[in-house]
Amino acid sequence: MSTGTLIDGRAIAGQIQAETAQRMVSLQVRGIQPGLAFVRVGEDAASKVYVGMKERACAQLGIFSETRVLPETTTQAELLALLARLNTDARIDGILVQAPLPRHIDEAVVYASVLPTKDVDGFHPVNVGKLMLGDTTGFMPCTPAGVLELLVRSGVTIDGAEAVILGRGNIVGKPMAAILCQKARHANATVTLCHSRTRDIAAHCRRADILIAALGVPRFVTAAMVKPGATVIDVGVNRIPDAGAKSGSRLVGDVDFEAVRPVAGRITPNPGGVGPMTIALLLRNTVRAAEQRP
Ligand code: GUN
Repeated sequence: MSTGTLIDGRAIAGQIQAETAQRMVSLQVRGIQPGLAFVRVGEDAASKVYVGMKERACAQLGIFSETRVLPETTTQAELLALLARLNTDARIDGILVQAPLPRHIDEAVVYASVLPTKDVDGFHPVNVGKLMLGDTTGFMPCTPAGVLELLVRSGVTIDGAEAVILGRGNIVGKPMAAILCQKARHANATVTLCHSRTRDIAAHCRRADILIAALGVPRFVTAAMVKPGATVIDVGVNRIPDAGAKSGSRLVGDVDFEAVRPVAGRITPNPGGVGPMTIALLLRNTVRAAEQRP
């Protein structure tokens, strides 16, 4: 049986980091050091890990970063006051408020309070709107932008392809659909966005030339759901119990990798696929924000 070629997210993220490092040199000549502020509210274990990884990536590239950790009991007004200060802080080019936020805080209000020019997460309504309109002056959210780079740099034909996206979240599914359906180079796909109310998801998946799983269900995508030769991108990060593991749990994606790989033409490993791309795109957005300093 044939075996799907691995899409090496670590290697492709490395290419992007090298390009970003070049842009850092040009900024240095202009006397500019990009700065990124992380805001974390509460003690969500995954958020701690993610922000830690992003901080280290900044340090490696020479981006200044600072992390503000606020207690779970922080009020929305206190969080907005911090964002107002960061919005006017001249050292800070990008602001990232790590999701999820505590339930008493309205995420939409928070993301709308980050200056659009510092919104390197691409969550501000202005940037979401620009993405929908095909206006490339905005910031694209890092994970779907990273998936696009994986596809383009692996030589996957997007133009005219049937792209099926599983999951309609604001961070991945919805912006991913907007990116792939644009009338633009590296887009022009026919996009189907499936979600929890979709009838017969498997039938949609089997039509896909490009299948992107971002629904947050462990190993949801099985071999029977994949068209032979399709490109399969696994965005999922799910913690499942594992009695054999020291921690008692382990991470798995939204794709049953072992079963799907023999059917797929190309497939992302997980870990080592989409994850490193999200960080690479965050740093690229931050450097771009610094290049565009007023
Ligand atoms: N939580 C999960 N993914 C993301 C992301 O891309 N950005 C932020 N801010 N929070 C997240």
